[in-house]
Order: sequence, then structure tokens, then C-alpha cells
Amino acid sequence: MALHKPYLDVPGTTIFDADQSRKGYWLNQFCMSLMKADNRTRFKADEDAYLAEWPMSDEQRAAVRARDLNWMMRTGGNIYFLSKLGATDGLSFQQMAGSMTGKTEAEYRAMMIAGGRSPEGNRIVGEQGDAQGAASQSAAWQAWQAQHREPALAAQVQAAHAAQGAAGQARVTASVYSSHVPAIGAAVDHGRTGEPYWAPMFKGFERSKQWMRENTPDVIFLVYNDHATNFDLGIIPTFAIGTAAEFEPADEGYGPRPVPRVMGHPQLASHIAQSVIQQDFDLTIVNELRVDHGLTVPLNLMFGSPAAWPCKVIPFAVNVVQYPVPSGRRCFALGQAIRRAIESYDEPLKVQVWGTGGMSHQLQGPRAGLINAAWDNRFLDRLIADPAELAQMPHIDYVREAGSEGIELVMWLIARGAMADVAGGAKPTVAHRFFHVPASNTAVGHLILENHA
Ligand code: DHB
Ligand code: FE
Repeated sequence: MALHKPYLDVPGTTIFDADQSRKGYWLNQFCMSLMKADNRTRFKADEDAYLAEWPMSDEQRAAVRARDLNWMMRTGGNIYFLSKLGATDGLSFQQMAGSMTGKTEAEYRAMMIAGGRSPEGNRIVGEQGDAQGAASQSAAWQAWQAQHREPALAAQVQAAHAAQGAAGQARVTASVYSSHVPAIGAAVDHGRTGEPYWAPMFKGFERSKQWMRENTPDVIFLVYNDHATNFDLGIIPTFAIGTAAEFEPADEGYGPRPVPRVMGHPQLASHIAQSVIQQDFDLTIVNELRVDHGLTVPLNLMFGSPAAWPCKVIPFAVNVVQYPVPSGRRCFALGQAIRRAIESYDEPLKVQVWGTGGMSHQLQGPRAGLINAAWDNRFLDRLIADPAELAQMPHIDYVREAGSEGIELVMWLIARGAMADVAGGAKPTVAHRFFHVPASNTAVGHLILENHA
């Protein structure tokens, strides 16, 4: 099922959605750079040289040189970003907007003084209003099109849809739950997994690695928390989805971990973002993200140390650092929205949803070192058997019983919400369950649930 885009038939209008944003990413970032006086000076001194520094398409560069805003929008530009280019040229918003309408500056100004353009006849493509028809085009855009004959866009889109529709939909195949202690990453990186302290913990994941070899997905939707690594106190998103093509391992102060870079899935991530936001969850879309131990350690536990991760990963970061953090109930409902989003994607991808962090641990204050193995195991029981009831548990119970950092466990409810039984389907199968104390300050918990439609 394609995403609901009711705005495509509004005449003379381009809505800046995830698809447009992906197309226009570097064009818009170039425009942003013009907010610095030094960059404006360099751009004005040698446009071609400055544009060459940005990985835009040739067409986007040509559109910028032509100062054709309709053309820039067509290639993914957004008016608020493009306005930085207009401002660099000394234009007002009225001059910029007017330049896209086919009117002269004076005509456009007169139209606005006379009360502005009427919506009558301009609500839907094909009506008789004055904003119908093709966008005005500069001579440069026309020349470009004459040189680069594009196959009809509608035909291309139709063909792509037909091909994908025939092939099937994406499916959530399993959910995986695991702690993500940085010391586990250090043990892997320094070849210490066989030491007496670590061997029993890694042994618990032997079966998981075998299972992963037999059940490698195409994509992992990996729910984790950023530990004051990519996000500082400048911006604190509650839910952030990584939509980039690649994510570098972060330097958390010890140097970046020597693990492969993580390859994303921009198309599926944008689809999930759009679908989940349309289901009334407010996600932050992150196009630049460095991933910390919260994401890389579970990959090691499940895959070992390959030269490249064997599948794509969509990072999904949840704020559990600064209160208020999202409730278990909201995380559980979000998981359900994520499953609907994944299973409405028109490509037969196998997708696993992972929940990481926990189990009981407290990293701060005189109560540091708190471990509540009985509570953790009861959490695993409830997560398997009655997650809807578990999702009602308030934060204070996590903190009191599982330690202040045990709050990371709310993220497991996102992965659990993505299982089919929550929406009336069959119960998942428990493929593996493991619990071990300690890894550093933490109780390590682990679960693999196979999904059945
Ligand atoms: C530890 C555990 C964590 O989940 C974390 O993010 C940092 C440290 C620990 O047990 O040391
Ligand atoms: Fe953590």
C-alpha cells in the first residue's frame, strides 16, 4: 500500500515530504550554509567552485545557477531553505514567491494588494482557477529538459508500483531483546570474550548467533537509546528515526569502536517515518547520526564480529536520559504503529524489530550496582505472556525496582508492540531466553520472539 499523499493533486503546489527531502537533502543543506557570512562571500566570489563542494546533482546545480525556484523545488528544494539563497541575492519573500507564478514582480505585488489569489478554482488540479497548469520555467530549465529528455514521470512511478505490488509486502519476522553494556563492546574489541568473567555471558548468545545465521533479516529496526553521544542537551528528541544511508560508530570518549559502519535503509525509514507520523506519533527525523554502544553492542552479541554487518539497520533512538521519558504504554502503542508501517511497505523485506538496553542497573549515586534478578525475570515472563498489562507499569516502578537506568527497559515494549499477537494474531514463539548477572553494572537479559502473522 502506498503512503497516503492527499496533497499530490493540489495545483501549483509541492508538499515537502520525506521523498522530497531525500531528493533535496544536499541542495537544502547547501542553502543552509549561506546563513554564514563567510560562505556567502565565497559563494558570490565563485559560484561554480562553491557549488562543487556540495554533493548535489548536476541538475540541482544548474537550477541554482539559473535561480529558478520552481526547478529547485522540483529537485527537492524547500522554500524555507531556498530562501537563504534568495536572501543572499537580496530578494524578499514576496519577490521569491512571485518569481514562481509566471507574473512580473509588479503584477504579483498588485495581486496581493488586491486581496491575494483566490482559492476558487485552485483547490484541485483540473479546475478552472488561475494557478492551474505547468509551473513557469526559466529558459535554462527548458533547455535542460530539451537536453535530458525524461521519461514520463507518471509512467515510471506506475511501473515501479506494478513491479513492487506483484512482489509482496514487508513483514515483521521476529523481535529480539538484549542489554547493551559498553563493557561488552570493550570485551569484544580487546579479544577478552573467553575470559572467565565474560565467557558465561557470551555463551548465552551462542544459540542466538546460530539462530541469526538461519534467520538473517533484510533490515533490523533497532530501538536503542543515545547515551549523550549524538544528542547533547541542545536538542532532546523523544523518538528519533535515522533515515540516512550510513551511520558511523560514534566516539564515546574511548575512540570509535572498531566495528563496521552501519548501512541504513533510507526508503523504508522514510516510509516508516511518514506512516508512523500519520498515525499521530511525533518522530524526529535524523539524517546525520553517529551510533553509540546502545546500537553496536547488540549487533556484536547477535552477529559476532563480521567484516560487514550482514543486513541493513534503521536506528531508532528513544530518550530515556532526561525526564520526562515516554511511558511504557506509549512505547507499546508506538510498536504497533511501527508494525503497521513496516507491513504497508511494498517490497517483500524480512524485518526484525529489536529492543535494547536494561535489564536492571543503576549507574549513579550511593544506590549504584542495584540488581533485581527476580524482578527482571518476572519482566521477561510478562513481556512474553501479557505485554499489554506490562505496558501499564509506571516509570517509578522501573526506577524503584530495576534501578534508575533500568528505565531503558521501556524500549523493549516498542519491539514487543510490533508482534502480531498484539493486533489479534497468533502468539510469538520463544526461540531463546537468557539471563546473566553481571556485565559491568548490569543484569544482561535476552529474548528472541519469532513472529507469526
Ligand atoms: C552500563 C550499562 C549501560 O546500559 C550503559 O548504557 C552504560 C554502562 C554498565 O553496566 O556499565
Ligand atoms: Fe544503556
